[in-house]
Parts: sequence; structure tokens; C-alpha cells
Amino acid sequence: MTTKQNLHDAAREVMKNAHAPYSNYHVGAAVLADDGQTYVGANVENASYPEGWCAETSAIAAMVANGAKHIKEVCVVTKSDPPGTPCGGCRQRLSEFADAGTSVHIANLDGIVRTWRMDELLPGAFKLKG
Ligand code: THU
Repeated sequence: MTTKQNLHDAAREVMKNAHAPYSNYHVGAAVLADDGQTYVGANVENASYPEGWCAETSAIAAMVANGAKHIKEVCVVTKSDPPGTPCGGCRQRLSEFADAGTSVHIANLDGIVRTWRMDELLPGAFKLKG
């Protein structure tokens, strides 16, 4: 199985654990880090709506908690048509750990629908360095 298929499987699987009782919009994210591990996350909503957070943010937190700091590839799964792309805040968070050319796959349950480069999703990304 290819890397992107593995990422899609992982994101689709974790999407089932989303806590999204308010929007009913379930999101799963999987990031492949440079330690060779895949880290996953789902969106976590809250009765105090602004306190919820996104699936990509959960996956990034899992990666950082495990000591990895570089994202090689990303897959985000939703059921929507067309499938959802990362929100603005998550584009910035992904950009912190990814390269301009990092592939961000956008998928539904059946598979990857479109692949974006990080710098297509967030042109002119803010970075403190360089
Ligand atoms: N959501 C994500 O998990 N990732 C995104 O990039 C966009 C939005 C979540 C947040 C909220 O739980 C639900 O989708 C509806 O906005």
C-alpha cells in the first residue's frame, strides 16, 4: 500500500472518533512525520463552541507530543462533497512543520480527491525564520 493510501486509511479511521455533536461535521487528519510515524487526530467540539478544535490541530499535537517536528505528508478526510480543505488556522499550523512542497491530500471516505501543495493552500506563509 502506498504512503498516501496508508494516510487516507488512518485519517478515515480516526474520523470515526471525532467529537462533533454540534456541527455533525466529522474530520479525520493523518500526518506522516519524519520519524516515519503516522500521527492522527479528529476534531473535538465543545458545548462552549469556540473552545473546540480541528482534526489537523489534534494530529499536530500528537506528533509534537511524540517528539517529531517535521511533516512529510498530510491527509484530511471529511464526508462532504467536495471534501473539506484545512481551515485558515490549520493551514498556518501545518505550515509551521511542513515545507512549501509538502503534499496535503484532501479526501472523502472513498479516497483522495485532490492533492494540494502546502504553498498553494497558504501562499506567503508567515514564518519567523527566513
Ligand atoms: N474542522 C476541522 O476539523 N478541520 C478544518 O480544517 C475545518 C473545520 C472542524 C471544526 C468543527 O469541529 C467542524 O469541523 C465544523 O467546522
